[in-house]
Amino acid sequence: MFHNPVSIETRVTRLLQIRYPIIQAGMIWASGWKLATAVSKAGGLGLIGAGSMSPALLTEHILKARIVWQGPLGVNIPLMRRDADELVKASLDNGIRIVFTSAGNPGKFTPLLHDHGCIVAHVVPSLKLALKAAERGVDLIVGEGFEAGGHNGYEEIPTFPLIPRLVDHIELPILAAGGIRDGRGMVAAMALGAEGVQVGTRFACTFESSVSENYRKSVLESGEPSTVLTLKELSPTRMLAGSFSKRSIEMTKTGASKEAVEHFLGHGRAKAGTFLGDTEEGYMEAGEIAGDIRSIVSAEEVISTMISEFISVINRLTLLGNSAINI
Ligand SMILES: Cc1cc2nc3c(=O)[nH]c(=O)nc-3n(C[C@H](O)[C@H](O)[C@H](O)COP(=O)(O)O)c2cc1C
Repeated sequence: MFHNPVSIETRVTRLLQIRYPIIQAGMIWASGWKLATAVSKAGGLGLIGAGSMSPALLTEHILKARIVWQGPLGVNIPLMRRDADELVKASLDNGIRIVFTSAGNPGKFTPLLHDHGCIVAHVVPSLKLALKAAERGVDLIVGEGFEAGGHNGYEEIPTFPLIPRLVDHIELPILAAGGIRDGRGMVAAMALGAEGVQVGTRFACTFESSVSENYRKSVLESGEPSTVLTLKELSPTRMLAGSFSKRSIEMTKTGASKEAVEHFLGHGRAKAGTFLGDTEEGYMEAGEIAGDIRSIVSAEEVISTMISEFISVINRLTLLGNSAINI
């Protein structure tokens, strides 16, 4: 067990009733009930990634989670899913009251979710989409920079310019996502005005995540750059650099049509790579910070280390501030 004697209070922690403003991102093929409950138990907020689940499987994960953890727990629902309404229903029917939506129009389900007493967060890659989400009534905005793992915005805006831009124009609490794996990243995000962080790849590389062993190994061995942003013709996706990404980049270079890329992609590539560990036929979604992840640890250790680093960085900066004042 790791013990950090503090809590870090922001509007995000008050709203979600959590101890630390650290959200474990919803991740297809990586964040099931085991990871989500481990994070929530450690004081963050765990999200079950519904994007790779049928409504029945999502129900199973929520029920399993509830056996071991009755506190704050959320679900991520990518709205591009054709059965997003059924995933919403499965979440509501099984008592979920925190929903992070992404990849679609949050206006569709936010009123229904609010009617059921939910807190709704929506993930955006740009100010334009953040303003729309705020207009549609969501409670929190997750600003996701393009260094993040998985599907990215077409705008390719990195986390550093994105977060202050959102903070300057939007009253709602902002969470920063993309490129954050430790306490330094958390301090930086909060210095930019974020009131919490959403962390993906670092949590994918824990004992509790459901990624394949080969995913963990591929991250540990990844170099620089560790990832590439590819499939831009369809839906820009950041994945570990490897055989699959090379082939897809080659298609772009040779001017392949959108249809040809669609045909090449086919179905089940994310599952094949991330969940089954096939680096030839599948891809592994991961953020650029993959290249700095050099150990597999528990979710609790990720949070505990982040918090102690957060405190020591703040202390160092405070000293620096004091010495600046004394000059
Ligand atoms: C393996 C993997 C799967 C992901 N799946 C989803 C998903 O289903 N829905 C979603 O909104 N974002 C998804 N993402 C993005 C994360 O939610 C998160 O915003 C991102 O990982 C943050 O950047 P980081 O990886 O640098 O921490 C995924 C990311 C990874 C690494």
